[in-house]
Amino acid sequence: MSQITVKGGKPLVGRVDVRGAKNLVTKAMVAALLGDNASVLRDVPHISDVEVVSKLLQLHGVLITHGEDGTMTLDPSNVKSARMVDIDAHAGSSRIPILFCGPLLHQLGEAFIPDLGGCHIGDRPIDYHLEVLRNFGAVIDKQPNGIRLSAPDGLHGAKISLKYPSVGATEQVLLTSVRAEGLTELSGAAVEPEIMDLIAILQKMGAIISVDTDRVIRIEGVKNLDSYNHTALFDRNEAASWAAAALATHGDIFVGGARQPEMMTFLNVFRKVGGAFDIKEDGIRFYHPGGDLNPVVIETDVHPGFMTDWQQPLVVALTQAKGLSIVHETVYENRFGFTDALVQMGAQIQIYRECLGGNPCRFGQRNFNHSAVISGPTPLHGADIRVPDLRGGFSHMVAALAAEGVSNVTNVQLISRGYEHFLTKLEALGAEFTYTE
Ligand code: EPZ
Repeated sequence: MSQITVKGGKPLVGRVDVRGAKNLVTKAMVAALLGDNASVLRDVPHISDVEVVSKLLQLHGVLITHGEDGTMTLDPSNVKSARMVDIDAHAGSSRIPILFCGPLLHQLGEAFIPDLGGCHIGDRPIDYHLEVLRNFGAVIDKQPNGIRLSAPDGLHGAKISLKYPSVGATEQVLLTSVRAEGLTELSGAAVEPEIMDLIAILQKMGAIISVDTDRVIRIEGVKNLDSYNHTALFDRNEAASWAAAALATHGDIFVGGARQPEMMTFLNVFRKVGGAFDIKEDGIRFYHPGGDLNPVVIETDVHPGFMTDWQQPLVVALTQAKGLSIVHETVYENRFGFTDALVQMGAQIQIYRECLGGNPCRFGQRNFNHSAVISGPTPLHGADIRVPDLRGGFSHMVAALAAEGVSNVTNVQLISRGYEHFLTKLEALGAEFTYTE
């Protein structure tokens, strides 16, 4: 298990560059499967989530190249069925395979999807996905290690209303409906920037998709799709993570590639906590301007609300704010596991099952500890910590870098799932650490 030994207490200062969003590029890669010709996707980071999806696509006959500069080509012209045993080897490594269903059914009339992986931040069911696929005419056969799908009568458009604006389920509808027979109407859709970028990609391929003001997405199915040539949207989750790191370590980090429009909500909260930022043409400078940090009340929500992926790194900065902060996590039921390690390092954080600080959410009174109260400022000291998930792991690294003394952080390979060249970036920012495989 890989481990980093960190000597904390030094401000992070310097420049990092973020590339394409982890939560867009993997879906764009699956979208290429729907086309008749080769697609080009630029700014694709070298992260393990991309590697897993590449391997699964190659198993199905897609030819892929991925240069160091981030340019990826995907040629689906010889797509074929894959052996179950080979697909199964990738079980548990990502949540993306569930999005292969529609494209494989369109291309091959069948699919086998292994059991999924992904961060342990809640139960992560796929009930919305399966319901959507059945609406399109898919027949789903549960197997011991995954699901087998077929579409005996082909896939036809459907009228779907999501119980919750699930990002994954919205992507499932988009990737299945674009070549389904007839019209699809999706109400209660997620409209995150990554979803809009996926829609732009599908439109480039020849799809007909409209997004109405009431978050209803309408798709007119077409028989064939061509290909796309696209530069992926930047990773706003990684950008927000480095911004939180700058605040927590009294640092000053220029995040190349970050853009204001997709980060407006984060920037407002960052400023209210006491952070400062300068918007430049090629990125955003995030820094601690000195003085006290202020406590805030945050409620995570779907776009354009405060992203659930932004709260974990920011909580570390809130341990240094003067007063009581509240975070009400309304997207995932169990996303505060990472706070145990922060408490071990001296933070004062209490988690509650009540909906604190905002409106009652679907987790209220269901025994989920989904609200946190953070009391600060509390000095953090080094500790031995184990990374629980991707964003929690980044928070642990930030806490170790902010703490006085030495911390040993294990299971850090989880961080490279979503943060490209993580160690190189830490070095560029002046962090003092040693890394052992
Ligand atoms: C995507 O996950 C992202 N992952 C997540 O980022 C992100 O936090 C999330 O969207 C919300 O923005 C990827 O894109 C790979 P959801 P996804 O479906 O699609 C429940 C990160 O750190 N739900 O919007 O899985 C679900 O349990 C990751 O980069 C069902 O109940 O999120 C959750 O409570 C973490 N049934 C809520 O909906 C379903 O069938 C939101 O999930 C599907 C989801």
